[in-house]
Amino acid sequence: MRLNHVRHNSTTTSSPQKKPIYQLSQRQREFLDSALRVNQAGELAATLIYDAQKPPVVRSHPHLRPLMKHMYDQEAGHFSTFNKYIAKHQVRPTAMYPVWEVAASVLGWSTAVMGREAAMACTEAVETEIGSHYNEQVREILSWAAEAERRGEELDDELKEMVATFRRIRDEELEHLDHAVENDSKEAKPYDPLINVIRAGCRAAINVSERV
Ligand SMILES: [Fe+2]
Ligand SMILES: [Fe+2]
Repeated sequence: MRLNHVRHNSTTTSSPQKKPIYQLSQRQREFLDSALRVNQAGELAATLIYDAQKPPVVRSHPHLRPLMKHMYDQEAGHFSTFNKYIAKHQVRPTAMYPVWEVAASVLGWSTAVMGREAAMACTEAVETEIGSHYNEQVREILSWAAEAERRGEELDDELKEMVATFRRIRDEELEHLDHAVENDSKEAKPYDPLINVIRAGCRAAINVSERV
């Protein structure tokens, strides 16, 4: 990751940093690279899942149109956020991109044709994994902030903004999870196998995308 912010010429800017900037280690930069890579892939998948789910779900349950659109629009916003980060920091997107594109569309379409409850169970499963994944990333970056604090330093503004963005997106994912439960995701049949297989698939996809 290349942080393109102003680091050493704070005296020439109008809002100088009060404390020295915490310098990221190689390991921390790699953590951010892989976080941005996996988040971009996940958000791509989310937009494709809703894209595939929307027509069958809305056809049989027109009252769900605004909800499906709302969730899709938020995912599209998340995806564009990570596209910008990826480009700005010159992070390589996952090599699995085309595979996730197909997998996400198949997952969205197949759960939607199983019915509204299965479509919602898909959202419940995905957001459970994604929400906790974002949480881990937030926790990690906050631990850097705590370390910086102990040293009398602070995270650079861009990293502060990034962690705030991760938190906002995490909250939106957890909101999708709530919408899914409110819309009878728990009534999906067969609930347990469906949820478990999707959650395992998400974890596997996360694992792979962090590395390749
Ligand atoms: Fe998202
Ligand atoms: Fe989501």
